[in-house]
Amino acid sequence: MAPYEIRVIGDPVLKQAAADVEEIDSKVVRLVDDMVATMYAAPGIGLAAPQIGVQKRLFVWDLDDGTGPHAIVNPEIVESDGEWTFQEGCLSVPGLSWDITRPNRVHVVGRDLDGNEVSYEASELEGRMFQHELDHLNGVLLVERLDDDQARDAKRQVRDIMLGLDKEKPPSRRLSLR
Ligand code: NI
Repeated sequence: MAPYEIRVIGDPVLKQAAADVEEIDSKVVRLVDDMVATMYAAPGIGLAAPQIGVQKRLFVWDLDDGTGPHAIVNPEIVESDGEWTFQEGCLSVPGLSWDITRPNRVHVVGRDLDGNEVSYEASELEGRMFQHELDHLNGVLLVERLDDDQARDAKRQVRDIMLGLDKEKPPSRRLSLR
C-alpha cells in the first residue's frame, strides 16, 4: 500500500469539518492501515484523515512508546483541564513549529476499529496529540492557535509553504507533534 500524499496548508480540505464515520467496515480498516503507513513514512506521531483528503472523523497515532499504532473513530474530548505549553508542529505545515498553550489533560472517548467504545485519559505529549488531531477533524490547523505575535511572524513562512517556496529548506529534525 503506497502511502498517501499529505495535504499541506492552503489545501481547502484542511479547513473543512469532517463527517462522522457511520459504519466501521473493511474500507475504514484499510484506510487506517494506509494512514498508519503514511504516518510512519512521513514520519509523524499522528495523522488525521483530512490530512490525506478524507473527510472522516478518525485519526491514527504512535507515540513510539511500544503500544502503537492506534486508531480512534469519531473521537470527542469530553473533559479537559490544566495548561501546558509545548512546541508543536504539523505534517501539513511542514518545517515550522511554535510554542502553543493548550489544556494539559484531556479525556477522549470514541470507538476502536471493532466498534467498541474506548476512553483515554491523556496528558502532556499524548494529550497534546489528541487535541491536535481532533482540531484537524474540525478543520482547524495549528496556525489558528498562534498568538498575535506568532501569527505575524508566521505569515511569510506560511505563505512560502502555500506557494511551494519552502522546498529548498532541510526538513525539521525536531521531534514535534505532527
Ligand atoms: Ni497536524
